[in-house]
Amino acid sequence: MGNPFSRLNLVYNPFEPAGSGAPVSGALWVPERWRQPLQDFIDAMEYTRGPKAYAILGGYGSGKTYLLRWLERVEFPKRRIRAFYFDNPGAQFYDLANSLLRQIGREEFAKSLWEFLNPQLPGFQMSLFGNPFREWLRTVKKYRRQDEAIRLLAEKIAERQIATDEEVRYKLARLIVETYDQPYFEYKDFVAGHRTSLVAEREEAPYFAAVLRSLRFTGSANAIGFLLDEFEEISLQKRLTKRQAHDYLSTMKRLIGLTEREQFWIVIAMTPQAKDITAKLEPALWERFVSHGKHEFEIPPLNDYEAVELVQHRLKSARPEEGGSDNLFPFPKELINYLREDIKSSPRRLVKVCSLAIARAASTSISGIEVPFTADYINRIQEELYPSVTSTEEGSIK
Ligand SMILES: Nc1ncnc2c1ncn2[C@@H]1O[C@H](COP(=O)(O)OP(=O)(O)O)[C@@H](O)[C@H]1O
Ligand SMILES: [Mg+2]
Repeated sequence: MGNPFSRLNLVYNPFEPAGSGAPVSGALWVPERWRQPLQDFIDAMEYTRGPKAYAILGGYGSGKTYLLRWLERVEFPKRRIRAFYFDNPGAQFYDLANSLLRQIGREEFAKSLWEFLNPQLPGFQMSLFGNPFREWLRTVKKYRRQDEAIRLLAEKIAERQIATDEEVRYKLARLIVETYDQPYFEYKDFVAGHRTSLVAEREEAPYFAAVLRSLRFTGSANAIGFLLDEFEEISLQKRLTKRQAHDYLSTMKRLIGLTEREQFWIVIAMTPQAKDITAKLEPALWERFVSHGKHEFEIPPLNDYEAVELVQHRLKSARPEEGGSDNLFPFPKELINYLREDIKSSPRRLVKVCSLAIARAASTSISGIEVPFTADYINRIQEELYPSVTSTEEGSIK
């Protein structure tokens, strides 16, 4: 039996049924209206002082995750910004540091830093085989030369200007030497000062800054970029306890401070409601984060032109041969006229409707679906997924 999608001139269904996140493969495309503000922001801040922080706002299914993934895979790499994507990071700075190292891998991080620092201990015979980093650590341990190794690494860390603070240099050196013996980080390395209700306006995060520099140097990158998705999860918790609010604000402050002092970018995505909560918790902090509204962007609903482009780009990625034509087949040319406004303006709804339309037409058990799809077929699909509601109910469904 042939590929069920071949009748549709496709190799697979390019629309994910859940209508969430970015596809695993294929080039990512974003509308000009989304791309421009982000590129302008990076252009403006690349050589300017001030917070390199940006907020992407949008309702559920508006394309926030997709836009962050585009930054991660397309725009940041183009500018040699090493990108890290975080889904729903915790409120604490410690959570972020921890998930960062989990993403890279503790060993990978320590090993590349060790290679970069290239510490030569006197009287050491390095084997040329196996894993030199592991060998080195084993020998250090065997002859109880940990203190000496840490001292040497700390010196190198100073030389390469990874950290100025002596304690931080020592901590980072210890992190390398204890690669296989200790957890990623210790909580106390990251807690913000004392447990007072007041958060210092410009909180320092020297250890984290040293980790960022290590990542930059070992990755030969110009900068590090953090993409924090679903930031709303934190601020939208039903009741934000005093402690959680404190952690949340303190994390924001430290992140902003880092973007000012380091080659470090941060883009967060959240719903407009979460923004309102954050802005109310501490208005001055939010204003600082988004540079008084200059560095924030709310994803607009798709217009007809963008909706057609979105569908075309997706179809193109799944055509049997390279450079397939730009047409909408198996959708009809007039697709946009057959879709309801609330469907075609929302990326999630549009993707889900297209996904089901294609899945059903490809299903071997349901035969006789006409191609290109008829207005009636498309209408049935969208009504099935998103039944029409009277205007009073509208807005209550997702
Ligand atoms: N520019 C785009 N091109 C193609 N598909 C997109 C685009 N933007 C969003 N989508 C798709 O729309 C759906 C919803 O997007 P998503 O980023 O998950 O929304 P959000 O994170 O705001 O809830 C996903 O299936 C996503 O792949
Ligand atoms: Mg999302």
